[in-house]
Amino acid sequence: MTRLAGKSAVVTGSARGIGRTFAEAYVREGATVAIADIDRDRAEATAREIGEAAYAVALDVTDQASIDAAVESVVARTGRIDILVNNAALFDLAPIVEISRESVDRLFAINVSGTLFMLQAVAKRMIAQGEGGKIVNMASQAGRRGEALVAVYCATKAAVISLTQSAGLDLIRHGINVNAIAPGVVDGEHWDGVDALFAKYENRPIGEKKRLVGEAVPFGRMGRAEDLTGMAVFLASSEADYIVAQTYNVDGGNWMS
Ligand SMILES: NC(=O)c1ccc[n+]([C@@H]2O[C@H](COP(=O)([O-])OP(=O)(O)OC[C@H]3O[C@@H](n4cnc5c(N)ncnc54)[C@H](O)[C@@H]3O)[C@@H](O)[C@H]2O)c1
Repeated sequence: MTRLAGKSAVVTGSARGIGRTFAEAYVREGATVAIADIDRDRAEATAREIGEAAYAVALDVTDQASIDAAVESVVARTGRIDILVNNAALFDLAPIVEISRESVDRLFAINVSGTLFMLQAVAKRMIAQGEGGKIVNMASQAGRRGEALVAVYCATKAAVISLTQSAGLDLIRHGINVNAIAPGVVDGEHWDGVDALFAKYENRPIGEKKRLVGEAVPFGRMGRAEDLTGMAVFLASSEADYIVAQTYNVDGGNWMS
């Protein structure tokens, strides 16, 4: 299928994990994709592995100059931007009484300000192009409710859901659809790190938290990045033209349970 034929997409944080899988899916659907990540070496390796429709772009979403340069470099390469996936994010875990100001500042800088200012830079470009566009933010089930030990990350993802609503309502007059995906628990390097943090704070053996959260998902297992690509392609395609400011759970029933 080529639902994104000829489209120029940017996926932040796509050197690995869910972002990489989205980039691969977009390429399969006919798009050209910028692998925009702070990990430049890995972004380049990922782009090479995906093939000639993917290319690496250096991006630190906490740095406005880096955001502006990344947008310029995508436009220099493809002439335009049709799709943005705001996927780059950081996780942390600590009891309320141990949360550091440094952790709060870093998570909000990447997950919230990074999402907003990347969205802003790309929206300006889309408005100038005059043909609308699609922006997909990565929220989380963590944004739908607080969680002991995960206060900061939960708060950042609640902010992403809220920004999706406001930006969605503001930008649809330019034909730009802003929506979000809220995954549940998705296996991969990210969750290896999450599991290690839970092992430390809940005094568990490595791997146990992962096993428990997987068993608790109504579908019967943790998610895989591939489980999310149907929604990611759909929201980036013209099939989603009438969808505005929504956040969709793609979580094997985890939130409902
Ligand atoms: N894995 C899960 O269980 C899960 C669940 C819900 C939501 N999510 C969300 O899905 C998205 C992807 O998750 P993942 O599991 O693939 O994460 P990941 O940690 O594997 O990947 C994150 C990527 O973002 C990049 N990145 C970090 N800081 C950056 C910055 N300042 N600028 C640019 N790039 C930066 C990293 O280099 C990495 O490639 C995130 O928004 C995450 O919050 C993940």
